Amino acid sequence: MDKELDFLKQKDRTIKALHSAAAVLGWDQETYMPDKAIGHRSDQLAAISVYLHEIKCDPRIAESAERLSGSRNIDEIDAAYVREMRRLHQKAVKLPSEFVERKSRQQTVSQSVWAKSRKDSDFASFAPYLQTLVDLALEEAEFYGYENTPYDALVDLYEPYTKSSEIGDVFAGLKSSLTPLLERISQAPQVSDAILHREYSVKAQKQFGNQVLEAIGFEFDRGRLDDSVHPFTTELGPDDVRITARYDPHFFNSGIFSIIHEGGHALYELGPAERIKGTILGGGTSLGVHESQSRFWENMVGRSLEFWEFYLPELRKYFPESMKDVGVMDLYKAVNKVEPSLIRVEADEVSYSLHVIQRFEIEKDLIEGRVKVSDLPDIWNAKSAALLGLEPQKDAEGVLQDIHWSMGAFGYFPTYALGNLYAAQFHDAMKKQLDVKALVGSGNLTPILEWLRKNIHEHGAVYPARLLCEKVTGKPLSPQYFQEYLEEKYSSIYKLD
Ligand code: CO
Repeated sequence: MDKELDFLKQKDRTIKALHSAAAVLGWDQETYMPDKAIGHRSDQLAAISVYLHEIKCDPRIAESAERLSGSRNIDEIDAAYVREMRRLHQKAVKLPSEFVERKSRQQTVSQSVWAKSRKDSDFASFAPYLQTLVDLALEEAEFYGYENTPYDALVDLYEPYTKSSEIGDVFAGLKSSLTPLLERISQAPQVSDAILHREYSVKAQKQFGNQVLEAIGFEFDRGRLDDSVHPFTTELGPDDVRITARYDPHFFNSGIFSIIHEGGHALYELGPAERIKGTILGGGTSLGVHESQSRFWENMVGRSLEFWEFYLPELRKYFPESMKDVGVMDLYKAVNKVEPSLIRVEADEVSYSLHVIQRFEIEKDLIEGRVKVSDLPDIWNAKSAALLGLEPQKDAEGVLQDIHWSMGAFGYFPTYALGNLYAAQFHDAMKKQLDVKALVGSGNLTPILEWLRKNIHEHGAVYPARLLCEKVTGKPLSPQYFQEYLEEKYSSIYKLD
């Protein structure tokens, strides 16, 4: 049996090495690559993806996995290892290489068409490309196979082992509590965030961001922070996790909260136990759980009163002019201002999940054939009015705002809201063992990271998301914890009855 396991591990190492080589190229493309290099860069990435597909399709992976899964003397972690190697192989062999290549080409073309359509706010020019991507997604779902809906086969790519009906149930509960909460907040006197729009030099923002990153436990000898237009995290190797952030000298939130958010993703990538480090089990178990780690640090720690009680004196050193007359309550309320807006990535904590539910409902209807591509702008605007009370005046602020569909990523959006729910449920479990507020208020974040390491990060992808949630919290995923968290926090900020 050891020989079979060794074979899988050797394949895994090759696959991982190629994936991370592609990740280096992708990171460079988003940060430092000169514009004219894009042609050869696409060739490089396409060559790697075709080669990777070939390796993953090696029938000996299935044979080894088959023999190992019948064996009684492998432990829980090796069993999870075999499960994931088999899953990787099975997903790959179901897709013909011709399809992999066709899809990759279409994504590149559609993304550039989308970027122009968004700039011109012209949905009609993007529509035929989007139709092709929907057709490709349906074709892909057929290759994978599914029980109830093709949408399940797509969701499974981002949130493995989770069905869209389970997500739908959780979101229905979430929606029914967010809408009335948002309504109550909108009737209360608004808080001001004018202080956040003062002058904040980008240089000082970066210095402060580095200080916070170090405090949450980001290891600068195992990662880097750089600039990019859209903040992201990418793992280039088990000891090399890159994050990026963007800064606005006239809006304090952009820099610091993108840094903390991506820092949370990075800590998860850097945290698997030695035994699974650098293997297929060494990454996150799902995008929902990944997002829970970023959102936990960004919102539950970074947007807490105690965090700013500790960091306001530091901020005054970096921004003596802009911070001189600012009290901690002013700052706390300002960074938590709730105001529905059209753009998801700028949304506050309360309305954010409604943006996600809107996209989930629309893409599910699209993939299940209840909605036509040509009707998307109208459907988008109507849902936006119903959920957020706002209707986009142009498609750039509506149906064209996000990149995901232009990359053919249907089934990705729900993971953002699942992240909020997992974060709140983990936070609830953590509070039973740690005095989180006291730790954050004293700037001692190490025990919090240790808790996350022991309960979540160390396990990597050994447990599927829903099982991990039950192990950590004793309960299946529920919207209740996030609802309670929002209710408590915003009742106090907005003095709701
Ligand atoms: Co994220």
